[in-house]
Amino acid sequence: MAKDPPEQQPSNRSAPISEAFRTFIQSGWSPSHPTPAARLPIADYAATRRDAVSESFPGITLVIPAGSPKQRSNDTDYPYRPHSAFSYFTGWGHDTTAGSVLQGRWRGDHHEWTLFARGPAPRTSDEFYANAAIGEFWTGRRRSLDEVATRFGIATAERETFVFPDSESSPIALVWEADPALSGELETLRGSEGPQSDDDDLERVASEMRLVKDDCEIAELREAVASTHRGFTDIIEALPGAIGHERGERVIEGAFHQRARIEGNAVGYDSIVAAGSHACILHWVDNDGPIRDGDLLLVDAGVERESLYTADITRTLPVNGRFTQQQRLVYEAVLEAADAAFDAVKPGVPFHTVHDTAMAVIARHVSEWGFLPVSLEETLEKTSQLHRRYMIHGTSHHLGLDVHDCAHARRERYLLGTIEPGMVFTIEPGLYFQPDDETVPAEWRGIGVRIEDDILVTRDGAENLSAGIPRTPDEVETWMAR
Ligand code: GLY
Ligand code: MN
Ligand code: MN
Repeated sequence: MAKDPPEQQPSNRSAPISEAFRTFIQSGWSPSHPTPAARLPIADYAATRRDAVSESFPGITLVIPAGSPKQRSNDTDYPYRPHSAFSYFTGWGHDTTAGSVLQGRWRGDHHEWTLFARGPAPRTSDEFYANAAIGEFWTGRRRSLDEVATRFGIATAERETFVFPDSESSPIALVWEADPALSGELETLRGSEGPQSDDDDLERVASEMRLVKDDCEIAELREAVASTHRGFTDIIEALPGAIGHERGERVIEGAFHQRARIEGNAVGYDSIVAAGSHACILHWVDNDGPIRDGDLLLVDAGVERESLYTADITRTLPVNGRFTQQQRLVYEAVLEAADAAFDAVKPGVPFHTVHDTAMAVIARHVSEWGFLPVSLEETLEKTSQLHRRYMIHGTSHHLGLDVHDCAHARRERYLLGTIEPGMVFTIEPGLYFQPDDETVPAEWRGIGVRIEDDILVTRDGAENLSAGIPRTPDEVETWMAR
């Protein structure tokens, strides 16, 4: 059941409500005029996805919650973001009403889908003016259930009428991680039955379906990349003002964030803005350092659209517009690894070939540079892999509604799977020479380079969706000179 909205409690921040005030505020409102709703193009795609998931779960009730707001501190929540599986199967993105639940009840030979959402509170209620968490005076208008039904082409019902069917009439598959309160409720209902062996089936199937994107998803990802490209251009324009600022990295983070908020929903993950040796810290998100002339600046950032699809792009830029010889040497090695990995992508190829190909190039370079205590042949053996000291992360992950998409897919479909047309994944090799790494000469220390692109697998090869964002050293220098 939906958690009841918090009742108006006397607190330090609210005055008691008199009956006279209540009567006054609950009256004198004209009928509300919801904006006319039209069926959205995404509704057809989401319906096809529901049909597909339905085929994997005959006889089973499917429950896919959007999830509740997550507390940041006291009465402040993180910005609300529905669970990706909910958005995938409904098409409802950034403006999802928190706490919504999609349910597919098995009706003999098909699933009957209902989207349970909290509709607007009437003006005769206390909620709209007295509930700071969800009242419309506080958080804005909620979509009516009719509006939701029309936009997404799914029958709707009030959220508080949602109940799990009793498990004797129908087994239940739940996206467990989406809404801990609902998961707890199902666990309580099951009582001594406890967890079941197929409990993660729905999460797995939903993740594996998302390995191959439909046209709607590909179009969204293209737009996410286009916005991200503009965000990187903003970064370059902001660079002069960031150099010399004691928190220059934050100046850059802010420039990108502005683009993400103006064109999309948000950033798809915390931006990494890493100047100088911060680039060697793989998930540097403090972003509180200065940016110095002569350093490299590594920026890993992506705009998340209102549909919630995100890009994931990294560029490494010379702060003063020109790579030093040393920086260029490292950069070109990483670029060679990226290009080799890209050339390996085509349908039918094992997914891990992309990583293996990039790593072979990385290994060859660090071997030729004399950083390894073993031969190239030896480091490439599974039992050795010493070159990974300089690139400890993977080369590729699937990308979509989540930056690390399809997280619940089985290894045999993901890491050990085969590349298929419609897959979208990153290629993101890097080289990182830590500032205190005594295995490399002093002039290499503190240099970190990553180049990350978003790749769409086509029928006979691949398309680099982010190829338009300058990536060769010469292109980068020209871009920055403009
Ligand atoms: N930005 C996280 C990643 O590249 O995977
Ligand atoms: Mn990535
Ligand atoms: Mn990234």
